[in-house]
Amino acid sequence: MVDAQTAAQAPKVIRRDAYRAPEWMVPEIALDFDLDPAETRVHATLTVERNGDHDAPLRLDGDGLSPVSVRVDGVEAQGWHMDGQTLVVPLSGKAHSVETEVRIAPERNTQLEGLYASGGMLCTQCEAEGFRRITFFPDRPDVLSKYKVKLTAEKARFPILLSNGDPVGSGDLDGGRHWAEWHDPFPKPSYLFALVAGDLVANKATFTTMSGRDVELGIWVRAPDLPKTDHALHALKLSMAWDEKVYGREYDLDVFNIVAVGDFNFGAMENKGLNIFNSRYILADPDTATDWDYDAIAAVVAHEYFHNWSGNRVTCRDWFQLSLKEGFTVFRDQSFSADQGSPAVKRIEDVRGLRASQFQEDAGPLAHPVRPDEYMEISNFYTATIYNKGAELIRMMSTILGPENFRKATDLYFRRFDGTAATCEDFVLCMEEASGIDLSQFRRWYSQAGTPRVKARLEHAQNGGRAVLSLSQSVPPTPGQPSKEPMVLPLKVKLFGEKTGKPLTSERLVLLSDPSEEIVFEDIAERPVLSINRGFSAPVIVESDRDAADLAFLSAHDDDPFARYEAMQQLMLDTIVGAVRSGKGDHGAVIEAVRNTLADDRLDSAFTAEAVLLPSESFVGDQLAVVDPDAIFRAREALRRDLGRELEHEWRLAYEAARANRFELSPAAKGARRLKSVALSYIAASGAPDAASLAFLQFEKADNMTDRQGALTTLAGGTSDKRVAALDIFYQRYSDNPLVLDKWFQTQALSARDDTPETVEDLARHRDFTLGNPNRVRSLIGAFSVNQRAFHHASGRGYRFLADQLIALDKINPQTAAKLIPPLGRWRRFDSLRAEKMRAELQRIVDTPGLSKDMFEQASKSLD
Ligand code: ARG
Ligand code: ZN
Repeated sequence: MVDAQTAAQAPKVIRRDAYRAPEWMVPEIALDFDLDPAETRVHATLTVERNGDHDAPLRLDGDGLSPVSVRVDGVEAQGWHMDGQTLVVPLSGKAHSVETEVRIAPERNTQLEGLYASGGMLCTQCEAEGFRRITFFPDRPDVLSKYKVKLTAEKARFPILLSNGDPVGSGDLDGGRHWAEWHDPFPKPSYLFALVAGDLVANKATFTTMSGRDVELGIWVRAPDLPKTDHALHALKLSMAWDEKVYGREYDLDVFNIVAVGDFNFGAMENKGLNIFNSRYILADPDTATDWDYDAIAAVVAHEYFHNWSGNRVTCRDWFQLSLKEGFTVFRDQSFSADQGSPAVKRIEDVRGLRASQFQEDAGPLAHPVRPDEYMEISNFYTATIYNKGAELIRMMSTILGPENFRKATDLYFRRFDGTAATCEDFVLCMEEASGIDLSQFRRWYSQAGTPRVKARLEHAQNGGRAVLSLSQSVPPTPGQPSKEPMVLPLKVKLFGEKTGKPLTSERLVLLSDPSEEIVFEDIAERPVLSINRGFSAPVIVESDRDAADLAFLSAHDDDPFARYEAMQQLMLDTIVGAVRSGKGDHGAVIEAVRNTLADDRLDSAFTAEAVLLPSESFVGDQLAVVDPDAIFRAREALRRDLGRELEHEWRLAYEAARANRFELSPAAKGARRLKSVALSYIAASGAPDAASLAFLQFEKADNMTDRQGALTTLAGGTSDKRVAALDIFYQRYSDNPLVLDKWFQTQALSARDDTPETVEDLARHRDFTLGNPNRVRSLIGAFSVNQRAFHHASGRGYRFLADQLIALDKINPQTAAKLIPPLGRWRRFDSLRAEKMRAELQRIVDTPGLSKDMFEQASKSLD
C-alpha cells in the first residue's frame, strides 16, 4: 500500500539546513532473513552507541513495518512505542544491543523499493530510503555499519543466496531449505545494503588488482540469459583497470557480483560488492542489442563500479549531497567511455542529453540547484541536474585545475574522507587545497539553479589588428531564486581566419566571472571567426552574433570536433527557427554545410552521423518563446526533405559505403552503422520511391539489432505498406524477449506519424503492455511524452492519456510514475489552449485521493 496523501495534508518539507548529526550510531548490524515471497521474517540485531551527550531515545525508521518483537540487551524491551512509522525505544546507557523482528511480503511489493520479487527471484533496492521497508533502522546515509547477513530460503527455488561483502559460510537445512552467510568488512550506510535469492547462473572471471590481489567477478542472470553477459563482464574488467590507472583506485573485496533483474525502477545500483542492475544494462548480443545498448551497458557497468570509491568508500552525509557521489561518478563514467571510443562523439552525445533533459529541467517548475535546499521526497531528486549538471561541475573544476592538480585533489579527497560520509563542500575544499585555486565564486554552481546565458560579440578593428570579444552573462530566475549572482564560467575560446581558414590564436581558457568582460586579442590580421565554449567547457547557452556564413565556416574548419558539430547545430537551429517564425525556410546554407561534411573523408563516420543530424523538435522548441509543435515539425521536416533531395546522391553513397561493413563492435564499425541509419532516414525523407523497399531490405537482411531497429524506425515513421509488415515480423520474432519488445513499443511511441496518439492509446491496451514493469512503462508512456508533436496534439488527448496512466501507475509504483510528470510541467512554454489543458491534467492528478508523496511533490510543483 502506498501512503495516502492529499493536497489537504501536504507532505513535510525536509530542509538541508535542518541537518543534525545522528543521535545514535550503529557500528554493527546482524541481519537474519528467513526468505519467502509471501512472507519473509527479518530479524535484526543492532549494536547502538549514543552519539554525544543527550538523553534522547533511539528512533528507528520504518515504512509499512510493525514489530513482532523488540528486545534490548537480550530481554523483551519495555516502553517502546510507535511514533507514526518510527519505532521509538527508550535506552538508558551509552551502548546497547537492540533486536527487532518484522514480517514483510516481497511478492506484494509493487513499488520495487525494499525487498521485492522479480521474475522468480527476490532482490532489494534500498537507495534512497528503501531499507526502512525491510527492517527498523536509522535509515540515513551518515549512519555507517558493518553488516553480517544470514539468508535462509528454499533451496530448489532459491539455490543462489547473495549479499554484500564476502561469503563466509553456507549449508543445508531440513525441509529443503539452505542458508548462506555474508560479511561486509567495510562500514556502509543502509542504502548500500543488498540481497538476492534466486535460481541464477554466473558468468565468472578473475581480475587481478594493481597490488596483485585476485577478485572473483560474477555476472548473475537466469540460465537462458547467460550467453548475453560477456559484454558486461568485459566492461567490468575494463572499468576496474581504468579506475586504477586514472584515479589510482583499487577494488577492495574478494568478490564483485552483479545481478540482472527485469523489474527495476532505474538503471542500476551500486550496493557494496553486489551491484543490482536493470537487465537492459547487462544483457546484450548482436541480435537483440543495438550499438547504443552496448555503449550504455559499458557506461552503466562502469558507473556502478566507480561508485565503489565515489559513493561507497566515501559516501554522502545527507541526501542533499547526492551530487557528491552522482555528479562525480557520472563524470568518471563519461571519461571512461570517452577513453574507449571517440572522445568527441561521446562529448556530443553527452551534451545532447544534457540539453534534452537538464536544460529543460533548469528552465521549468522543477528547477533546483545541484545541491538542493529542500525536498519532500528524495526519490524525485535523482534528476538530470544532480547527475548530469553535477558531472559538468566536476568537469569544469577539472578544466580549471588542470589534469595534475585535479588528480592530486581527488587523491586528497579519497584519502581524507575514506570511510566517512562527506559533503559537496568537502569535495570543493579538496580541489582548493590541492591546487591553491580559490573556488569561492565557483561554489555558486552548487547553490544557484538555472542555465547561465552568455552573450558573445566579437569586434575586429580592420586596420589595428586587434579583436575584442565582449562577453556578458546572466542567470535566469528559477523557483525560489528570483535573482542570481554572476558565476564563474570557464569558456574555451579560439579565433580562426575567415580567409585562410587557419587558426589565428591558440586556444584560450577564459574564466568569465564578472557580469561582463572584454577579452582582447592582439595582432589579428584578418577578419576572425569566433569559436567559443569549445568542447562545451561550460554548461551554458551561448548567444553570439555569428551569422550563417560564420557558422558554415566553423562547421568546416574548426579544429575542435565538438565546436565543429556545435556550429552545424547552431546553423540548423537558426534555419529551423527562422522558418518557424517566417513560415518559409532558406535551406541553402545547411545543405551546403552538410554536403561539405559528407565529403570530408578525414572525418570518422560516427562524427559525421552526429554532425548531419538535425536538432530535435523539442530543442527547437526551447529556442522559441511559445512552442508551436506543429509548425516546428513542419519546418524541420521541410529541411529534412530538402536535405534528402538535394543530397540524395551523397546519402546513397554514404549508405552504400557503410553497408559494405561486416558486423563488428569496433568504433569504426559502429560509426558506419550509425551513418547508415542516418543516411537511410534522409533517403526516406527525400520521398525517393525505393526508400521503403531499401529500408525493408535492410530490416530483413540485418544481422544485428542496430540495423534492424534503424530500418524499423524509418518504416514505422512512414506511410508505406511495408510498415505494418515490418512491425508484425519484429513483434513475432521477439515476442519472448521483453527488452526487445520494449523497443517495439518505443519505436511506435516515437513515430512521427499523424496517428501516433491513437496508436499509443491502443498499445496501452496491448496484451504485452503492463504498468507493473518500469521498462515497459518508460518505453511506451515515457517515449510518447517526449514525442513533442504527438504528445502535444491540439486536442489534449496526449495530456489526458498521460495523466490517466500516471494516476493508475501511482497506485502501483509511485517512484516510476513521478518521474514521468515533467512533460506536463512544461505548460508555460505552450499556447494558452494547450497550457490550460496541461494544467487541468496536473490539477486532476493533484486532486486524486490517496496520491503518493512522490506524485504530489512533482505535480503540485509543476502547477506553479
Ligand atoms: N545510485 C544509483 C545510481 O545512480 C541510482 C539510485 C536511484 N535511486 C532512486 N531512488 N531513484 O547509480
Ligand atoms: Zn550513480
